[in-house]
Amino acid sequence: MIKITSLVCAMCLVLPTASFAEQSVNGQDFINLFEKLSGKQPGIRKGHAKGVCAVGTFTPNQAAKQYSISPLFNAPSKANIRFSMGGGNPHADETSRSPRGMGVQFLLENGDVHNIAGLTTPVFAGNSPEAFFGLLSTLVPDEKTGQIDFAKVKAYREQNPSTLGQFNWLQSHNPPASYVSSRYFGVHTFYMVDEKGAKHAFRWTMVPEEPEQVLTEEQMKTFPKSFLA
Ligand code: HEM
Repeated sequence: MIKITSLVCAMCLVLPTASFAEQSVNGQDFINLFEKLSGKQPGIRKGHAKGVCAVGTFTPNQAAKQYSISPLFNAPSKANIRFSMGGGNPHADETSRSPRGMGVQFLLENGDVHNIAGLTTPVFAGNSPEAFFGLLSTLVPDEKTGQIDFAKVKAYREQNPSTLGQFNWLQSHNPPASYVSSRYFGVHTFYMVDEKGAKHAFRWTMVPEEPEQVLTEEQMKTFPKSFLA
């Protein structure tokens, strides 16, 4: 049996339902909302719908072993990787100011599968599922006009400042020129557990070997909508 270990993108798998009782949201609420925003798209992921897969090898740095007993750090492992555009649109415009994602499955020597998910932004779109849900709800086009009410989006952001961090970051950083020329951030704080059982808080970032490269303003206007794969 495949066992999934820690470090999973927890928010993708388990959506807390109790933090704000009056407006709590669950996974099905998000699926319904993604379908309103991007259509039903049968057979395609509701989030990060557009993407491309790759395979690779992960070679752990032995220094990590002093903080963690995870088998991830025992030996090199094969990795399945998926790079993606955030959002539910399978035809997303790759010149747009939006987060890109990276999902990695590490296939460990003991048979475990260890999953992580990261974004090209160091912060998420809100500090709770409810804030993210509220923000996405303002982006649903009006049924009659088919238009997004951007005044409503702006007002929501101002009333919910945790939704501003990612937005401001995207405005001040042009999109990656390639899936492999960008940093990917784990965003959340996770814990490593050492052999004495002590917990060590950490955040992870994937850093490309090649220099980071972003699209120029000109390229953002002239590049095709699909070039990353
Ligand atoms: C409330 C917050 C979130 C919601 C509702 C959400 C929702 C989703 C959904 C519905 C999917 C598609 C899953 C599938 O069909 O396989 C997805 C994929 C993904 N999410 Fe999230 N997500 C959230 C937070 C995050 C965070 C914090 C990160 C990273 C730091 C993240 C990174 C990703 C990535 C990289 C994928 C694509 C995985 C792949 O390629 O298979 N998400 N998310």
